[in-house]
Amino acid sequence: MPAFATLIFLLALVAFLPRAAPKSTIEPCSNSDTCSSLVGYTLYTDLKVSEVASLFSVDPISLLLTNAIDISYPDVENHILPSQLFVKIPIPCSCVDGIRKSSGVSYKTRPSDTLSSISAAVYGGLVSADQIKEANPKAELSDPSVIAVGTQLSIPLPCTCFNNSDNNLPAVYMSYVVRDVDTLAGIAARYRTTVSDLMNVNALGNAEIKDGDILAIPLSACASNFPTYAKDYGLVVPNGSYAITASHCVQCSCGPGSRNLYCMPASLAVSCSSMQCRNSNLMLGNITTQQSAAGCNVTSCSYSGFVNGSISSTLSTFLQPRCPGSQQFPQLTAPPTVVPESLFSPAPSPSESGGFPGTNPRSSTVPSSGAVLGFPPAGGPSGSVPGSSGACSLMSHLTSFPIMLVFGFIVKFVLSMSL
Ligand SMILES: *[C@@H]1O[C@H](CO)[C@@H](O)[C@H](O)[C@H]1NC(C)=O
Ligand SMILES: *[C@@H]1O[C@H](CO)[C@@H](O)[C@H](O)[C@H]1NC(C)=O
Ligand SMILES: *[C@@H]1O[C@H](CO)[C@@H](O)[C@H](O)[C@H]1NC(C)=O
Ligand SMILES: *[C@@H]1O[C@H](CO)[C@@H](O)[C@H](O)[C@H]1NC(C)=O
Ligand SMILES: *[C@@H]1O[C@H](CO)[C@@H](O)[C@H](O)[C@H]1NC(C)=O
Repeated sequence: MPAFATLIFLLALVAFLPRAAPKSTIEPCSNSDTCSSLVGYTLYTDLKVSEVASLFSVDPISLLLTNAIDISYPDVENHILPSQLFVKIPIPCSCVDGIRKSSGVSYKTRPSDTLSSISAAVYGGLVSADQIKEANPKAELSDPSVIAVGTQLSIPLPCTCFNNSDNNLPAVYMSYVVRDVDTLAGIAARYRTTVSDLMNVNALGNAEIKDGDILAIPLSACASNFPTYAKDYGLVVPNGSYAITASHCVQCSCGPGSRNLYCMPASLAVSCSSMQCRNSNLMLGNITTQQSAAGCNVTSCSYSGFVNGSISSTLSTFLQPRCPGSQQFPQLTAPPTVVPESLFSPAPSPSESGGFPGTNPRSSTVPSSGAVLGFPPAGGPSGSVPGSSGACSLMSHLTSFPIMLVFGFIVKFVLSMSL
C-alpha cells in the first residue's frame, strides 16, 4: 500500500527532523550603561499584579502604568490578572558579557519547578532552560530534575537598546516571543511598525518567523532630556503609556498626538519635594498661554529629572505660531479581568507593510542557546502541536510537490493523535 508506506516514511522523517533552535536577536554592547526596555509576557496562570511584578523584580505601579492600567482602582496591586493576558513589563536593559540582557531579575523556586517549567511556563519562553543553567553555575541544575524549593535563581532576559531610537526617532524595544499564530505582518500592524523595519532591526533574511523566536519590536516613544547626573536619566516612555519616576512623585506620559514627554505630579499619596517652578507660581506640567500679535507666548513648567533626591524643574517661555490645545493623555483602562479577543487579528495585506529591509542590520540573529522544548506556549489559540513547526518547515521544502501538502496534513493529524 504505497500511501501507507509514504506515511511511514514521512513519520520516520519527522521523527528525525532536527528541531531548529528558536532564534533571538542579540545586540552586542561594550558599556555598562543601561536603558529602558520592555519584555512582552503572556501570563501562564492567573496572577496578582504584585505577583507578576515580583516575577520580573519590577515595581507594580510601573508595571500597571506601562500598560496604561488605572492605578487609582481600589487595591489594584492585589487585582488578579487572567491567565493568557499579554502585558508589557518594563525592565532595565544592561550590558552583560558584551551582550544586552537584563541582569536584575531573580526567581525563587517553588515546589515541582524544573528548568523547563521555569523557562517555558513561568517566563513564557523569554529565557531558555540552558540560559538559566548558565546564569546559575553554582546551583548545579540539571533538567529534568525538580529544583530544591526556595533556590534563588538569576533569570537573564533578552533585551535591546539600539540607542533608544528607530529611524532616528525615539523608541523603546520590546522583546517578544513569537507564537505559532504570528506573522511578521501581523506583528508589524499590531505595533505600528513595518515588516521591513522589523526585518532590519532583527537582521532577518526573510519574513519567516516561528514559534519561540524572540523578536525585538521597536515601539515609538517619547524621550526625556534629563541631565546625565539625574537618577532617571534616559527615561523613555512608549506611546500610549505612562511611567512613574522621582520616588513615585512624578508621572510622565506619551501620546496620543504628540511625541513630547509630558510630566506632572503623580496622584499617589507620598511625600514629595516641591513641584513648583522657581520664581513662578506654576507647578510641574502647568502651561500658560498668551495670544499676542507676534503669536502665542507659551510658558511652561516642565520636569527635568530627579537630582539628588529632589525634583528638578525648568521654567521656559517661547513664542510659537499657534497656542497648543489642551494636553491629551493616553487612555487608562480598568485592570483587565478577561483576555481581550482582538489580540490575534488577521494579518493585513502585504502592501501595508511595504519595502525591503535596509542594508544595515543593527543586530545579529542567533539561535538562543538551547531550544525551548517541552510544551508549546500555553493555550495557543488553536491547540498547537509540539513539532508542528517542524512539519511546516518540512512542507515548505517540499512545496514543489503539491501532493506532499496532503501528507503534511496527515503528519499533523497523526501527531495530534499521538498526544
Ligand atoms: C542615538 O540617538 C540620538 C537621538 O535619539 C542621536 O542623536 C545619536 O546620534 C544616536 N547615536 C547613535 C550612535 O546612533
Ligand atoms: C501613538 O498612539 C496613538 C494611538 O494610541 C496613535 O494614534 C498615534 O499615531 C501614535 N503616535 C505615534 C507617533 O506612533
Ligand atoms: C497646575 O498643575 C497642578 C497640578 O497638576 C494643577 O492642579 C493645576 O490645576 C494646574 N494649574 C494650571 C493653571 O494649569
Ligand atoms: C511671554 O510671557 C512671559 C511670562 O508671562 C513674559 O515675561 C514675556 O515678556 C512674554 N513675551 C512676549 C513676547 O509676550
Ligand atoms: C548632589 O549632591 C552632592 C553631595 O551631596 C553634590 O556634591 C553634588 O554637586 C550634587 N549634585 C547636583 C547636580 O546638585
